[in-house]
Amino acid sequence: MASQDQEETVSHLRPELVDFHGVSMDHFFTDNWDNVQNFQAKPDDILIATYPKAGTTWVSHMLDLLYFGKSSPKRGVSLPIFERVPFLEICISPPTGVELADKMTTSPRLIKTHLPVQLVPKSFWEQKCRIVYVARNAKDNVVSYFHFDCMDSMQPEPGDWPSYLQKFQEGKLVFGSWYDHVKGWWEKKQTYPKLLYLHYEDLAEDMERELDHVCSFLGVCPSEEERQQVKEGVQFDAMKKNRMANYSTMDGMDFKISPFMRKGKVGDWKNHFTVYQNEEFDKEYQNKMMNTTLQFRTEV
Ligand code: A3P
Repeated sequence: MASQDQEETVSHLRPELVDFHGVSMDHFFTDNWDNVQNFQAKPDDILIATYPKAGTTWVSHMLDLLYFGKSSPKRGVSLPIFERVPFLEICISPPTGVELADKMTTSPRLIKTHLPVQLVPKSFWEQKCRIVYVARNAKDNVVSYFHFDCMDSMQPEPGDWPSYLQKFQEGKLVFGSWYDHVKGWWEKKQTYPKLLYLHYEDLAEDMERELDHVCSFLGVCPSEEERQQVKEGVQFDAMKKNRMANYSTMDGMDFKISPFMRKGKVGDWKNHFTVYQNEEFDKEYQNKMMNTTLQFRTEV
């Protein structure tokens, strides 16, 4: 068990939340901002965009296997996901996400971002890059984010669950409001045809069907054998065991508190929300989602 001194040291390392262009962020994602904004996208880059904990790693690993599983069968088990799919805006230690992406020689480059749509570097739009956005229902998303923030010392102090839930509703978590994020990207989709908007719950329900959507959006035609390899590789248990997909090689995360591949379930929020929290959440949710056509499944 950590001593009080150790706990204080760890908590001092945790960054503060700051307001950055109207979005809550911490300095790990803003320190390199000029380079992020000036990032030069290439026309065949594929951007994987999500609010944190919406299934980023799942879809990143899927696309990586889809594109490179055949030509480099060992890649998915020998190179960590954060090198195969660099996290554009991260600047924890060198190399930064931008440096990693700049160094990539593979084509297409798969690049991850958690930025809300209005902060995405303009070269992605100018180059008309394909973008795969993944959204997850708010309740499971906040539960997953809470466990992550508890175990990742590079994230701001999460506090207890009730106060965390409050912060989620107020948009006071890193990368800001879930509501603004999912709605902002949804609106973009209406005018930008090269954006595929996926839902975590759909992936969980029918990977075969979602893989069809992804392949037709990307214009790739894997053989039956390649499809099979992708489907097996992205199963939760396979990814949980795969050190190159489960973040166990990343510093700063304490898997004794919570593993990165935690449960991978739809509806786990029911194990965390009290009846009162759920009622209050639903009221606020309805208000915040009344001005959008975006819908999440109600049965979760
Ligand atoms: P839980 O904390 O609910 O388990 P991100 O990659 O955006 O950080 O999201 C992490 C969440 O996606 C975690 O959710 C993780 O378990 C889940 N996840 C990752 N890979 C998955 C998979 N193959 N199948 C289902 N869920 C997966």
